[in-house]
Amino acid sequence: MKILITAGPTREPIDPVRFISNRSSGRMGYALAEAARDLGHEVFLISGPVTLKRPSGLTAFIAVTTAAEMYDATMAYFPDADLTIMTAAVADYTPAHVASQKIKKSNQDVTLTLVRTRDILATLSTLKQPHQILVGFAAETENLFAYAKAKLHAKNLDFIAANDVHNPESGFGVEQNAVTLFARNGTVTDFPLQPKTELAIELIRKIIDSAPDVMQ
Ligand code: CTP
Repeated sequence: MKILITAGPTREPIDPVRFISNRSSGRMGYALAEAARDLGHEVFLISGPVTLKRPSGLTAFIAVTTAAEMYDATMAYFPDADLTIMTAAVADYTPAHVASQKIKKSNQDVTLTLVRTRDILATLSTLKQPHQILVGFAAETENLFAYAKAKLHAKNLDFIAANDVHNPESGFGVEQNAVTLFARNGTVTDFPLQPKTELAIELIRKIIDSAPDVMQ
């Protein structure tokens, strides 16, 4: 299969030296890319700025910085993808204006105006062909199951993998994760706490094996 994966955070610039970002390390997405490669698939990895080593043996690796760049790269590769997994923690807001020079401090408080970015995953669901499998990730600090299921339906996904980032063991930046996979047909599968590398293989296998039932 051709598998498209997005990973890591995005960075939204405020001025040439400052940005808004989040705590995503990219580890889950990179682990999924390596697992998919090891299972014999063609992998297209679109990555925000992370400190991880670029995996070898991928069909394509595209480095992006902002949510807008991630949107463009994802749109370019999506039409060819049989399975798309969006693990990236895409910024939901970006500064309305980017200062061309470093903003100097004054004695006044400042207010930053943020505008919404485009939702990549929601856009993909409107473009998706019947054979294409679409998977989202939901990182939540509360009401994990309710929010994840709401996102599955709101974004018209085939699967959503939900993880509790409030729990330090499965949160951002750690080597392990525990997720619950919700499928469009109502099936729920728990994946207990384990290294992200092992979890990635189990998740890819489960998604591919159950996709025909979920999508019929
Ligand atoms: N996502 C995306 N484009 C965005 C924002 C998120 O494609 N601009 C994707 C993420 O890659 C992830 C899923 O959507 O697969 C997360 O769902 P979302 O509702 O956007 O989560 P949050 O951004 O955390 O939203 P909320 O603040 O409502 O929890």
